[in-house]
Amino acid sequence: MKNYSKSPVIKAPLRSRIFRIVSQQAALKNVRAFVIGGYVRDYFLKRRTTDIDIVVEGNGMDMALAVASVLKVNATLFKNFGTAMLRYRGLEIEFVGARKESYRSDSRNPVVENGTVEDDRERRDFTINAMAFSLQEEDYGTLTDPFNGLEDIRNKIIRTPLDPDSTFSDDPLRMIRAIRFAAQLEFTIDKDSFASISKNAERINIVSQERITAELQKIMASRKPSIGFNLLEESGLLSIILPQVAMLRGVETMEGKGHKEIFSHTMQVLDNVAAVSDNIWLRWAALLHDVGKPPTKHFDKDTGWTFYGHDFVGSKMIPAIFRNLRLPLGEEMKYVRKLVQLHLRPIALVNEVSDSGVRRLLYDAGENIDDLMLLCRADITSKNPQIVKRHLTNFELVSKKLIEVEEKDAIRNFQPPISGEIIMKTYGLPPCREVGMIKDFIKEAILDGQIGNNYDEALALMKQRAAELGLSEVGA
Ligand code: CTP
Repeated sequence: MKNYSKSPVIKAPLRSRIFRIVSQQAALKNVRAFVIGGYVRDYFLKRRTTDIDIVVEGNGMDMALAVASVLKVNATLFKNFGTAMLRYRGLEIEFVGARKESYRSDSRNPVVENGTVEDDRERRDFTINAMAFSLQEEDYGTLTDPFNGLEDIRNKIIRTPLDPDSTFSDDPLRMIRAIRFAAQLEFTIDKDSFASISKNAERINIVSQERITAELQKIMASRKPSIGFNLLEESGLLSIILPQVAMLRGVETMEGKGHKEIFSHTMQVLDNVAAVSDNIWLRWAALLHDVGKPPTKHFDKDTGWTFYGHDFVGSKMIPAIFRNLRLPLGEEMKYVRKLVQLHLRPIALVNEVSDSGVRRLLYDAGENIDDLMLLCRADITSKNPQIVKRHLTNFELVSKKLIEVEEKDAIRNFQPPISGEIIMKTYGLPPCREVGMIKDFIKEAILDGQIGNNYDEALALMKQRAAELGLSEVGA
């Protein structure tokens, strides 16, 4: 460890009432307390944060209770972990006793002992997260930075404080955290730390899926998610945690013909979407839009490489991917599945931009039409500027037509003007096949433009179809 005695003293004002109270309580209990971790890092990065971690040389839960009683709020104790949390004016403050942790090679379980703040910092994940501000009266707010985290912040570097193999072995989730911080802060991972991630990637298997996915969501929410997913791919982690996306990497060549490299294309689509939308699920749809390509890849002498049906096959893969990642299986999953299934539709319309084709697309996409168009627009990537230009011109054409048809026909969130109820009442029917047939017939006629989207024309068609089916009206 370097000697920083000559470094200029850096002091943070730490004006919040909470810090003063912790400081007073620490003095009363005759223990040392520090603000540590994310709060200190974000102070220097000028990022807003509402999470404060306090490390106490003593019992974290006792300290939390003492502070909570001054603030007249409740503290939540996590007895199994010896930690406690309280909320105060939008802040979430976590208290932990300083620990010295070591792992025996014959066991995954740590041997945890009480330690000093110096011990505690050694077992933290990255140099930028191991800095602390003192809460002692005599040097209140003074930074201690044993691993030179401030310099790493200045140089935008993610680096483990100790030998990376040992830091990652203490908690393998840190391998993904390193990548998450690289994506979130747009930092570079130090060479040795990254080599260690590649070497130890398999160890991620002992981490719970929920923790992994929480980090993936943070990568997804970052300004340029490709930074994170490229690092996950490069390190070998992606093929363990999301093999369906890792498989997109690579180009196969047959008879001198290669296909587009789908992984880098996907990265570009993901960033394109992220540049125009914060919707995390639209970003997932971008990441997954081509997962059906590897299973449908085919080479033919005449047609070259094809991926027929990859939209359909890809959409079928979504539920299992969401289940494995423990992502929500309700509306969010259905939304991603739908966008993956429909992602080719707008551009496919280009060959024949008919009103009925556009109406069907509007009907199938429903309220997700705008997001689908964002995805489709983002999906136009090519190294050849001529191709991009041609596709964009076509895309604009479809977009214009969509607006026209929508204004005219109001198909989005379309409910056929004749409900099943009306059909059942008119013909004295219980719910049955005929009711569905008549309803579908009306819907198809509207989408095809044979009749307008209104009650009177739909009613006339209902009567015509019912007569064909041999039904008579009640009381007729
Ligand atoms: N930490 C660690 N190893 C982990 C998780 C956390 O060493 N696997 C330490 C780091 O010092 C980190 C602190 O615990 O700064 C708090 O962790 P957490 O709240 O998860 O992350 P933050 O660094 O605060 O970042 P963010 O708020 O962006 O999640």
